[in-house]
Amino acid sequence: MIKVAPSILSANFAAMGEDIKKLQKFGADVIHCDVMDGTFVGPITFGGQMVKAIRPLTTLPLDVHLMIEHPQTQIKFFADAGADIITVHYEACNKISPTYLRETLQLIKSYGVKCGAVVNPDTDVENIFPVFDICDMVLIMSVFPGYGGQKFIPTALEQVKKAREYAIKIGKGDMDIEIDGGVNLQNAQTVREAGANVIVAGSAVFNAEDMAGAIATIKG
Ligand code: DX5
Ligand code: ZN
Repeated sequence: MIKVAPSILSANFAAMGEDIKKLQKFGADVIHCDVMDGTFVGPITFGGQMVKAIRPLTTLPLDVHLMIEHPQTQIKFFADAGADIITVHYEACNKISPTYLRETLQLIKSYGVKCGAVVNPDTDVENIFPVFDICDMVLIMSVFPGYGGQKFIPTALEQVKKAREYAIKIGKGDMDIEIDGGVNLQNAQTVREAGANVIVAGSAVFNAEDMAGAIATIKG
């Protein structure tokens, strides 16, 4: 089943509650929350307090994408805030130690929250194959993280295909594979055909005049 996960990075931060309610009303399946720390990526967005504030406003799952250094230090805050799934970057973990990624995923699971590993466009997805066994989802970036509204990087499609093939190989063919960045109404079909089933879209949803129509088209 294809799920559309609008990114609230493109929402109106001064009217976040209204935007969250609109997303649910207009057919979103998941709410994608982009957390940036100003170090792993340039900008700073928000922390656990935002997730806590939006939690009572929707019954949709909250998908927290941590674009931060030292993710282990922050997991508790997002778990307590009501995240349903937390994803962490391979690049942030691997520079600390070779075991840090798996430990972080285990830490997320210890709070009863689903977990996932993320790779940037220039990181081969093979690097996270060793943690596929513990992941509920993997996230393939199709832009370099930091900003909404960037252009889709097509090599991400190969990464998605490789991830789906490997998931099938290890008997986890139905694992969620999420793609994030530059997805729009024109390329959504290609993204689905490559094997991604959780599709993040920020600007394509929030800049659409017909938000419900945009979500439906991305879903296919
Ligand atoms: C990029 C974020 C994405 C971004 C997607 O750093 O992780 O979730 O908001 O926005 P669009 O769909 O506009 O590329
Ligand atoms: Zn994201």
